Amino acid sequence: MCIEETFIMIKPDGIQRGLLGKIISRFEEKGLKLIALKMMDIDENLAKEHYSEHIGKPFYERLIEFITSGPVVAGVLKGEKAINIVRKLVGATSPDNAEPGTIRGDFTINTAFNIIHASDSSGTAKKEIDLFFQKNEIFTYDLALEQWLGSK
Ligand SMILES: Nc1ncnc2c1ncn2[C@@H]1O[C@H](COP(=O)(O)OP(=O)(O)O)[C@@H](O)[C@H]1O
Ligand SMILES: [Mg+2]
Repeated sequence: MCIEETFIMIKPDGIQRGLLGKIISRFEEKGLKLIALKMMDIDENLAKEHYSEHIGKPFYERLIEFITSGPVVAGVLKGEKAINIVRKLVGATSPDNAEPGTIRGDFTINTAFNIIHASDSSGTAKKEIDLFFQKNEIFTYDLALEQWLGSK
């Protein structure tokens, strides 16, 4: 069984639009376990580190400006195949490709302002969790289902 941890971040537009609860609900309803959650401001250094793969792209400067423009909510979700499942629930980057039923498909109309980030691989998940969370901000607890599956 492939138990994974993955990083999510509700972007400033998700907070501004009052969608935090709805977005987190999608993950809870799916059965993913929330093991960390916090509201925070992202400073320029953290923004540049987080989005380093996009340096030089046409949208990079505005992306840094946008992600530092107001508080975000960062979280860690855990579960079987969590990384891929969370990306599927989030939907495609561009709203015209994001399927209805996904978070971006249901709530976004613009690629830049697409309300949520989620890790796209085990490598980025580890990097992003370490970048945003101290060890003591990540919680360990059991879900009943995990005991049945023997899958902590
Ligand atoms: N063509 C674009 N125009 C404007 N903003 C973009 C564009 N492509 C990506 N972005 C922004 O940069 C973020 C990171 O891009 P990317 O890693 O490709 O997408 P994802 O967030 O789906 O992993 C996107 O979520 C979006 O906010
Ligand atoms: Mg990405």
